[in-house]
Amino acid sequence: MINKTIVVTGASKGIGKEIVLLLAAEGKNTIIALSRDLDLMHQNFDHLPNVHSYSFDLSGSVILQAKEIFSAHASVDVLINNAGLLIKKPFEELSAANFQQSFQVNFFGVVELIQYLTSRLEINGAHVVNISSMGAYQGSAKFPELIAYASSKSAICNFTEVYAEEKKDSNIRMNCLCLGAVQTEMLAEAFPGYMANTSAKEMAAFIADFALNKGGFFNGKILPVSNSTP
Ligand SMILES: NC(=O)c1ccc[n+]([C@@H]2O[C@H](COP(=O)([O-])OP(=O)(O)OC[C@H]3O[C@@H](n4cnc5c(N)ncnc54)[C@H](OP(=O)(O)O)[C@@H]3O)[C@@H](O)[C@H]2O)c1
Repeated sequence: MINKTIVVTGASKGIGKEIVLLLAAEGKNTIIALSRDLDLMHQNFDHLPNVHSYSFDLSGSVILQAKEIFSAHASVDVLINNAGLLIKKPFEELSAANFQQSFQVNFFGVVELIQYLTSRLEINGAHVVNISSMGAYQGSAKFPELIAYASSKSAICNFTEVYAEEKKDSNIRMNCLCLGAVQTEMLAEAFPGYMANTSAKEMAAFIADFALNKGGFFNGKILPVSNSTP
């Protein structure tokens, strides 16, 4: 397929921003960049004619926003669910609202977006890549005070396996990447002072290649992508 329509959430900064820049370098792709900070996306991407930035809040009404955004885009070939919210607090201090917020952004909002887009994903046979965390990967090292984040990220891992099974006779592929430490604002918030040996650009290159070229090799897989964890 030549002209791919690629959706990237969490595109304003960190790994998502780098994914958009890499995928847009192939001028034949159309990139739909989504995040809440539209100004930042305009700064990042306005020089790239094949990137369309839209304000999008996973904790808002996902369906209403998606209807607006995708009215101009009939099919989607690659969906990278990269946006994420990390709340770091001791378990006793986490409110029900903290858990709800974490699950809304890292799970329910993502599920709603996938549900809305499923008919568009079926048109050409899309690859959906859900971005989770090593903190959510079964048997990996766990870290205190990240329970709302890690448990919401593990929900999207399980969702990936079941969605792929339910849709195995369709032409949609879905996989979930559990990332290790990547040097971004989120990592600095989670582990102040820790320096990851993977940059946002390096991880973005892996994710972009996986999303574009590896869908035919995997379906319903939860894959660790990590060369260091704090
Ligand atoms: N960095 C790491 O070490 C690491 C490790 C494991 C997994 N991950 C995962 O990798 C992904 C990218 O993380 P990152 O490190 O690049 O983080 P980041 O720099 O903090 O970026 C997070 C992105 O998510 C977006 N976002 C947050 N809340 C949102 C909401 N309510 N609605 C829509 N978008 C929202 C932010 O955009 P706006 O603020 O503009 O909305 C931003 O673009 C996340 O899913 C994260 O959990 C990262």
